[in-house]
Amino acid sequence: MRIRARVSMSADGYVTTPSGWPAQTADPAFVSGESHGIREFLDGCEAAVMGRTTFEPALTNSRWPWPDLDVFVLGSHRPPGTPRHVVTDSDPARLLDKLRAANRGGDVHLVGGPRTIGAFHALGALDTLELVVLPLFFGAGTQLTPALDHAAALTFERQRALPGGSVEIVYSCRGARAPLPAEPASQR
Ligand SMILES: NC(=O)c1ccc[n+]([C@@H]2O[C@H](COP(=O)([O-])OP(=O)(O)OC[C@H]3O[C@@H](n4cnc5c(N)ncnc54)[C@H](OP(=O)(O)O)[C@@H]3O)[C@@H](O)[C@H]2O)c1
Repeated sequence: MRIRARVSMSADGYVTTPSGWPAQTADPAFVSGESHGIREFLDGCEAAVMGRTTFEPALTNSRWPWPDLDVFVLGSHRPPGTPRHVVTDSDPARLLDKLRAANRGGDVHLVGGPRTIGAFHALGALDTLELVVLPLFFGAGTQLTPALDHAAALTFERQRALPGGSVEIVYSCRGARAPLPAEPASQR
């Protein structure tokens, strides 16, 4: 099983709109469950894991967003109305154990948000960080860092252009981080 964090972000680096919605929802090319390469991505996935903040809006959605996936949620409480099959835990390491115990060999889509991606990264459990960079500027919103340690080691794996002008970039999170180049003294 690989844990694959996949997030959309604006071209100026925000994973949410200024009002807190997932970045891709602001893109005119967005179609829930269908656009931005999500279908191909989900082909190899059997589970989705996310933080309580990202999960809660699904409870009032007209359609359940993860019909074919086991769902795991990191949060201190089980939100009212959570379907019985959804697994919740307040401890990231315990939730990771539950994910592994349930795994049948498929991948896990780490949906987000940044704090949950950061929690899995801190456990050394993140296999890939997959960014969908949208052809939009937001000017404000939430970024992946500081929730995700800025010292994350990223090794480029592949990229593809998506319909609608977005670009998917896949990084491996395995391996040592290359040292940052020293800044010239005049720029400090
Ligand atoms: N662009 C995208 O693709 C994308 C994808 C997903 C989400 N988003 C956006 O991301 C935003 C939410 O991100 P977020 O980072 O604030 O929230 P989040 O990761 O979705 O959820 C945060 C919650 O998860 C639990 N949690 C996270 N880390 C934990 C840890 N180390 N230990 C214990 N519990 C932990 C806590 O639940 P409790 O409070 O219950 O303790 C915390 O309040 C939303 O605005 C959403 O729209 C964007």
